[in-house]
Amino acid sequence: MMATQSAGKVNDYGYRSFELGGFKFERDEYFAHITWPAGSHSMPVDLFLRAMIRDLAWSFFYGTVNFDSVFGTTNHYGNVDVFAGLYSDGYRKHNRHRVENFKSDDVKAIFEAILEDWTNERFDPFAAPQETGSAFGPKRGSNRAAITRKRLTARRMVGMKDDIPLRTDATGYTVNRQLADVNQDEPEVHAEPGFESEVHAFNFFGYVSRSDVTWNPSVCAAVKDALICATTEEYMLPVIHGNDRVEWFVQLSDQIEWDVSDRETGEMRARVVMKAGDVAAMPADIRHQGYSPKRSILLVWENNDPSLPELYAKGQLKSNPVDF
Ligand code: PHB
Ligand code: FE
Repeated sequence: MMATQSAGKVNDYGYRSFELGGFKFERDEYFAHITWPAGSHSMPVDLFLRAMIRDLAWSFFYGTVNFDSVFGTTNHYGNVDVFAGLYSDGYRKHNRHRVENFKSDDVKAIFEAILEDWTNERFDPFAAPQETGSAFGPKRGSNRAAITRKRLTARRMVGMKDDIPLRTDATGYTVNRQLADVNQDEPEVHAEPGFESEVHAFNFFGYVSRSDVTWNPSVCAAVKDALICATTEEYMLPVIHGNDRVEWFVQLSDQIEWDVSDRETGEMRARVVMKAGDVAAMPADIRHQGYSPKRSILLVWENNDPSLPELYAKGQLKSNPVDF
């Protein structure tokens, strides 16, 4: 289907409206409003923009990114389903849901335009609520610096030659206010001659304590499809992630509580309280959302193998990797 974008009409609050297939997007001072032929939905605009920036930064991520219980996207890696009510029984039973498939680039273009137009100056959708200005009110400038941050993805490992650099005060990555007690010493590496490009180490906690974003895993080390991602978490994950593969979590500091539900129906399945040192394998058939009362450090181990979603969908792999 063709993706379209309305011709720059500005509403009373200063914001433009957008169209993507049969979906219309409008914002006012507090809400994002989404309408489609059989229904409509509203969500707080700060939450909408926090979800939108992550959906874009992660190129639609693994599986489903629910902005909330109604609206979201499902990644088919090249094309994307945009849906409303698809994973809510009530909408489906009454045939009020909608799902449309688009080329990923078409969704990206519209979502980027919405994010740019609807993000006010001083609102940073990646920042913790206590570290950003307000998303609300009539249109007030823009915040391009915040919304065009590059996602940091190491090819081999942070700090190696020709790879992404360590974070330092000099490059603008200061230690976060809540991780001030993290030791910042770097390890000494003494490689045998000839192995200088093969042996490497860096202070992982120090690196992560300097993250200026929340709920945004960045790849710190990669071995084939195994990606070691680190992230600092504060307040709540602004999306409800519907996994299409298993994800391993290692809680490295403080505490996160996870609501874990059935991916399709949203029916609650478990509440997982992870304290520093805890390890969890999130199954491949769930949706989950995390809550971090204080800034915490989470390591996420992802397997990027593109054949995994089909193996799980066909039941050739069990959705839980361990039985207890
Ligand atoms: C996840 O959905 O698994 C997820 C997303 C973002 C994070 C952590 C976990 O920061
Ligand atoms: Fe997840």
